[in-house]
Amino acid sequence: MQIKPFRIEQYFGKYEFTAKYLLSSSDAESRSIRELLDLEPGAYERFLDHWCGYTESPGAPWVREAVAGIYKEVLRDDVLVLSAAEEGIFVLYHALAAPKDHVIVETPCYESSLEVARSTGAQVSEWRRSAKNGWAHDLAALERLIQPNTKIIYINTPHNPTGLLMSANVFKQVIALAASRGIIVFSDEVYRELEHDPRMRLPAACEVYEHAFSLGSMSKTYGLPGLRLGWLVSRDADLLQRCLDFKYYTTICSSAPSEFLTALALRHRGELVRRNLEMVRRNLALLDAFLQLRSDLFEWVKPNASPIGFARFKPDRDVFVFCRKRSRNWGPFWMLILD
Ligand SMILES: Cc1ncc(COP(=O)(O)O)c(C=O)c1O
Repeated sequence: MQIKPFRIEQYFGKYEFTAKYLLSSSDAESRSIRELLDLEPGAYERFLDHWCGYTESPGAPWVREAVAGIYKEVLRDDVLVLSAAEEGIFVLYHALAAPKDHVIVETPCYESSLEVARSTGAQVSEWRRSAKNGWAHDLAALERLIQPNTKIIYINTPHNPTGLLMSANVFKQVIALAASRGIIVFSDEVYRELEHDPRMRLPAACEVYEHAFSLGSMSKTYGLPGLRLGWLVSRDADLLQRCLDFKYYTTICSSAPSEFLTALALRHRGELVRRNLEMVRRNLALLDAFLQLRSDLFEWVKPNASPIGFARFKPDRDVFVFCRKRSRNWGPFWMLILD
């Protein structure tokens, strides 16, 4: 397997834990294990007594049950628990894509969604969006990219890096396009449930199309990336089984303490989301006001979902040089990077 360096993670590796001010987090604010255990009477004792053996490879049944509860008409057996969404991306592409296949990836995107697809040897096309037209989705362009051997279409909504939701109409049409050709939809929904206006929430892809996968995670909306726990949900039992067969080679099963804490957190996810959403709304108003004040330097499409946004640094300067220079005093500033 050939895979390119994961540049964004290398960048984080260098600055995330050393910068004075971190302006580039991609997840909601976290909390301590104590705060999680405080959510439920008796949880502290139960956690200490929790068995630290291997867990079931698809995920402990009660964790899968808790994850299924996020979705409509999804059963426990439709859920495959993974060690965070990152494992989901790796497992899904490698279980389902081969050199004879073609994969379409919505870009710009979280780097591994593109590079892991390429690492399977499949031919990969980018369904590219641009700031120049307000990050619009060009459905005609997507249709033109489809080939007879297109196996998977990767989409991401709410979207990293823009923090924008796909419109309900575009989402419906992407699903219809894929369904009409039997293409698998791989829908990265790690920011789902953090829409700034919850009425704008889209259905999960796994709810509306049998050959779709919804990718979820404790990392982003729920602010618990240290649990390293995520999931793939699909009503296509055969495809899900192929992902499980691949997982036996990656992690076999998930972390037992993380499964305990995940099920606990999901039982209280309303509370977690409420706090995180409040924080996002408050901080977004401040950041947006700052970007407007310095509109000589910045422009952006204000995000409507997730805790992230993507501002453009207008001066014609190399942003990496700018970030490195600033990082000595301010911390990294990579949110300025643009196509
Ligand atoms: C869109 C998207 N998908 C997946 C991931 C991976 O998340 P994790 O492995 O922490 O669950 C990230 C992380 O930044 C992301 O932004």
